[in-house]
Amino acid sequence: TESVKEITETMYRFPLIKVRGVPLRCYIADNWDSICAFRPDPSDILIATYPKAGTTWVQEIVDLLRHNGDAEATSRAPTPERFPFLEIHYPPPIPSGLSRLKNMDPPRVIKTHLPFQLVPKGFWENKCKTIYVARNAKDNLVSYYHFDKMTLIQPEPGPWDGYILKFMKGELAWGSWYDHVKGYWKERKKNNILYVFYEDMKENPRREVERIMHYLDMSLGYDVISHIVELTSFKSMKENPMANYSSMPTPIFDQSISPFMRKGEVGDWTNYFSPAQIQMFDDDYKRQMMDADIPFRTNI
Ligand code: A3P
Repeated sequence: TESVKEITETMYRFPLIKVRGVPLRCYIADNWDSICAFRPDPSDILIATYPKAGTTWVQEIVDLLRHNGDAEATSRAPTPERFPFLEIHYPPPIPSGLSRLKNMDPPRVIKTHLPFQLVPKGFWENKCKTIYVARNAKDNLVSYYHFDKMTLIQPEPGPWDGYILKFMKGELAWGSWYDHVKGYWKERKKNNILYVFYEDMKENPRREVERIMHYLDMSLGYDVISHIVELTSFKSMKENPMANYSSMPTPIFDQSISPFMRKGEVGDWTNYFSPAQIQMFDDDYKRQMMDADIPFRTNI
């Protein structure tokens, strides 16, 4: 709908501004009050993640579940239109997440990267179903590094070595991975949040699709679930123009630098971390995750 020309003129690498200690793109920070004031409907479903943990994958699964595995229904629009991104704001006239939400009737499937403490309270007061997707830190970091190269509206990632440090210090957009995964983990029981691991989805996608289905109080037949698993494989989604972000204008995502559907694997971090970087990262990880018992697995 937006003309590429308008977008080209208004896009640049947005600096980050802290909101309650969390660095966010300046356009999000500038509109913080209206984001905070958003009231969801109790029927809305929230998909919450640290960036690059598997958001798009789980969005596709939830949409297919809600449409009984009907790929024609889920091809109605590209990802950003089907799942309003709660906090997203761009320079005008590009629509914000809130404006998309205003034009859509509940139940909506809403995406957020906000850490738990910044999510508008209405989601918890209204007991909205919430699916949190977590991905092991090193793969999440590698994926974010490539994303920051091709996302021309986020700060430049800079050299790999320094990027690792920025991740460890929580200086990337949406802040600390450690605080993010711990925040939702701590709140999961009280707020009935379904906590899903990217690695579990890779290991046994059917099991995790069924877990999500049961959480959403749905029950679909064996063959429909098989179909959903097939449609949400990395290969299918990479080829699916409604799921692979190919419709995102180049001034926002330049997929010639790195494709959005990049690799979709567990353990790709071994191709990037040097032995010294592993040592440094793991020592710091132990310190930062000491107070958490989240069962991350990387050995699959
Ligand atoms: P990689 O960069 O490691 O390939 P998000 O949707 O949260 O932005 O996460 C994107 C990451 O999830 C990317 O990781 C992307 O390739 C991966 N991904 C997307 N769909 C996937 C799928 N169906 N199966 C496995 N990984 C998927």
